[in-house]
Amino acid sequence: MSTFLLLECSPHGERSLGGQLAREAIEQFQFGRPDVRLVTRNVATDGLRAISAAYAQGLVESWAHTSDAFLDSEQLIVELEQSACVLISTPTHNFAVPSALKLWIGHVVRDGRTFKRGTRGKIGLLKDRPTLVLVRSSTPCVGERASQPDFLTPYLRHVFSVIGIHSIDPAIKC
Ligand SMILES: Cc1cc2nc3c(=O)[nH]c(=O)nc-3n(C[C@H](O)[C@H](O)[C@H](O)COP(=O)(O)O)c2cc1C
Repeated sequence: MSTFLLLECSPHGERSLGGQLAREAIEQFQFGRPDVRLVTRNVATDGLRAISAAYAQGLVESWAHTSDAFLDSEQLIVELEQSACVLISTPTHNFAVPSALKLWIGHVVRDGRTFKRGTRGKIGLLKDRPTLVLVRSSTPCVGERASQPDFLTPYLRHVFSVIGIHSIDPAIKC
């Protein structure tokens, strides 16, 4: 059994156009593959806790990461660790990631858990896995028709590489 993680990041929930495209793509992929299990995490509507003072302090002071402050973080990291591949369906908000996806990143990119510090920089601790990013925006942001800057895809590439995930493939849908 391999697990496919779908991260939905639109505040529109079920009505998100990007989310509908992502779910259709996954249904097609799952067809005839009963060994593929889908886990859906909607970062915009699942009520993730904000990054708290206790969480930030716990990182700096290297507390045991079993503290309550790390509960959301731990759950999200385990979901990611257990996935064979990831599909991120996200809108562009103000040329970059929506705040809900930024919060997921805040919980998942965690010093001492998903990356460590080496003499030449940060070292990712997760296994690489195929990660498709389906980006929606109202105006083109990549290619010849681009009329606005794209801070979203280079940012996601960098952030995922920090935790060890380098196989990122962005697909843009305007
Ligand atoms: C707060 C907010 C900020 C947005 N910023 C941008 C933007 O910078 N560039 C853009 O092209 N579209 C922007 N949009 C439009 C959405 O990216 C676009 O409508 C997208 O298709 C929504 O996808 P969804 O239905 O999957 O949520 C913004 C929308 C919202 C609500």
